[in-house]
Amino acid sequence: MARYELVKRSVALITLTNPPVNALSSAVRHAIAKSMDHALNDPKVTAVVICGENGRFCGGADIREFAGPLRGPPLVPLLDAIEAGEKPVVAAIEGVALGGGFELALVCHYRIAHFKARLGLPEVTLGILPAAGGTQRLPRLIGIPAALELITTGRHISAQEALKLGIVDQVTEQNACEVAVEFALRAVAKPLSSRRVSMLTTPCPPDLDGLLEAVTMQVKKKARGVMAPLACIQAVRAAATMPYSKGIKRESELMATLFNSGQARALQYCFFAQRTAGKWTLPSGAQWNNSKPREIRSAAIIGLGTMGRGIVVSLARVGISVIAVESEKKLLETGKQMVIGMLERDAKRRGVSASLNLLKFTLSLQDLKDVDLVIEAVFEDMALKKRVFQELSKVCRPATLLCTNTSGLDVDALAGVTDRPHLVVGMHFFSPAHVMKLLEVVCGPRSSSETIATAMILGKRMGKVSVAVGNCPGFVGNRMLKPYLDQATFLLEEGATPEQIDKALEDFGFAMGVFRMSDLAGLDVGWRVRKESGLTGPDVDPKNPPRRRQGRRYCPIPDMVCEQGRFGQKTGRGWYMYDKPGGTNAKPDPLIQNLLEMYRSRYGIQPRNISDQEIIERCLFALANEGFRILEDGIAARPEDIDVIYLFGYGFPRHGGGPMFYASMVGLERVLERLEHYHQAHPDVPHLEPSPLLKKLVACGSPPVQKWREHIKTMHSHL
Ligand code: CAA
Ligand code: NAI
Repeated sequence: MARYELVKRSVALITLTNPPVNALSSAVRHAIAKSMDHALNDPKVTAVVICGENGRFCGGADIREFAGPLRGPPLVPLLDAIEAGEKPVVAAIEGVALGGGFELALVCHYRIAHFKARLGLPEVTLGILPAAGGTQRLPRLIGIPAALELITTGRHISAQEALKLGIVDQVTEQNACEVAVEFALRAVAKPLSSRRVSMLTTPCPPDLDGLLEAVTMQVKKKARGVMAPLACIQAVRAAATMPYSKGIKRESELMATLFNSGQARALQYCFFAQRTAGKWTLPSGAQWNNSKPREIRSAAIIGLGTMGRGIVVSLARVGISVIAVESEKKLLETGKQMVIGMLERDAKRRGVSASLNLLKFTLSLQDLKDVDLVIEAVFEDMALKKRVFQELSKVCRPATLLCTNTSGLDVDALAGVTDRPHLVVGMHFFSPAHVMKLLEVVCGPRSSSETIATAMILGKRMGKVSVAVGNCPGFVGNRMLKPYLDQATFLLEEGATPEQIDKALEDFGFAMGVFRMSDLAGLDVGWRVRKESGLTGPDVDPKNPPRRRQGRRYCPIPDMVCEQGRFGQKTGRGWYMYDKPGGTNAKPDPLIQNLLEMYRSRYGIQPRNISDQEIIERCLFALANEGFRILEDGIAARPEDIDVIYLFGYGFPRHGGGPMFYASMVGLERVLERLEHYHQAHPDVPHLEPSPLLKKLVACGSPPVQKWREHIKTMHSHL
């Protein structure tokens, strides 16, 4: 767990050896303590260098150990002892120095960083704070404003920025360890007192209270209801106002309030869920680590609308050459200008040159003969998409992968019209496609493992979080959205307002409430889908009661809103009113209030006061209930996959963990009881009827999320 060697006759080289990130597990902490003891007591040793194996200094505490009781030496006294030692200790930082790893570097008397190294205190993203002295030492070293920014955001910084801030003493392009050994030899004769960061006085800005207040406001605005950044601010205040010995106690008290909180558990779950999501498996045994992806050098996008443009940008900025196809000259030109503008802005922001030379624009599918992969992003119209896929079959070479960005249509039906169903897969991006991190890779029953592997890896290469899902209407994300949206509109009928529902969801932590989100996405999209599925429009039999469709409760209010030409932000009116078409500042609209009042009186609905608790329970438990059904149906392999989809595609707050983790945190028994209660009150809403899997899990004693898979029948897998 740590290797001890004597180099250059007098330098103790301690190498952390806990792959893959040299996390500070109990065994590693024990090994560091033993090695330091040895080094400090061996008269041959005049200086110490600490580094990490395989070019990675240290990724911080072993997060997996947080779930159990503390074993092995605690970190704070161990780090204090390193700093207090009488022999100079140099940190040789390669790869990463994060969290506890950064705190370990901070107690070393000198820090040498490789120019590619990244440093940071990401604890806040795990719902905790840097409690091994990080909140006390960093402000002493670099001052309050810079320390506050790093600690409250968890941002990783480059070695160059660390040098500018005064965190590291030297940046090198050579082997950091060798440079550190030479540095250590030179440091032997120098006094250490000024190198012990905990002994420094924190440089304090003139208006400390004003600064802390401003950062508190910022943090509250950015991460509503999240506890950890606020605790970080309090800890930094202690660094400014207390001696180290007291500050470190305050840090530890604050950590105690966070460590066992639901938010910390949720955020740590998200960390692992995100990494689990890439590990897909098929019933055939093919999986992420035994299926070889194809290399993709060139791609084509069909349709340069909202989605197509973002997909072109996502591909081109990772060096893939792209041919973009439109149906008409004018649309092609507009699309081209938009794509070029987006790429140029993106390149400017990243400080690189825009890869415009990778782009080609055409009206002819014939130009796609040689591409490695095609992503179709034309209108959501099955007949049109089938025509495109038939044409692609004829034009593209036999090995070209054919992908669709459909948001819910049958991927297998599209595969069926091609000459290569095994090379067809869904690549479902989210809008705006060059910004949103989620990619649902929709596996049809005939998609080959090589095809799935290629789409998953391509997603990763574009910086997306790829999740493999099965093929059913709406896949995972959009299928779950329906019961969630339905509950929101039923609540409107019963007496709530759009702003009340949105506020409850935003207070819960959603980036946007359901009505603001719908206004942003465009209300006409759902209206068209409802018309096509016979739920509204002239084809509906007028004898049908307006609030009932296909044997279940139906809310026609969204259709009424669309009938008034209110399509959301783009028309300047939707569930809210905006200053102008395309405006983003949502204001409650008295016309919507009137519409709701008239609607309720027309149907004799007595409005009632609806609590925020009911809003959250009905929207989120209905959402999770559909998630349980998706697991039962084998459309998602694991609850973690569903949660990752909601975290990265639908703005579910990370500190809630995602809908499935949230249900487990509330308690499955409670979720079941509340769903039964609401279903009894609304028997014509099947989405509120508890799913068999939920009942089964409760009957099995509500196991933790990670164990649900054991209770799901895998024979139904659609993956
Ligand atoms: N503890 C436990 N496991 C960790 C870990 C950690 N700190 N960091 C990474 N891992 C695991 C990952 O889960 C993953 O495991 P699997 O292969 O089983 O999926 C594996 O290491 C590789 O991780 P990545 O896939 O993320 O590898 P990467 O090369 O893309 O990224 C990294 C490397 C930048 C270090 C990234 O893993 C990361 O950000 N890790 C977390 C760093 C962090 O938050 N540290 C702070 C911990 S809290 C703390 O330190 C507080 C304290 O002092 C008490
Ligand atoms: P859009 O209407 O903005 O763009 C579609 C584009 O396809 C238009 O520019 C149109 O001219 C072009 N097109 C139509 N037929 C064509 C053909 N035969 N050849 C070449 N180009 C053709 O639609 P949008 O929103 O980009 O959606 C595209 C697809 O992505 C749909 O399947 C949609 O369901 C899906 N999707 C949409 C999301 C969204 O938020 N808009 C999110 C995720 C998926």
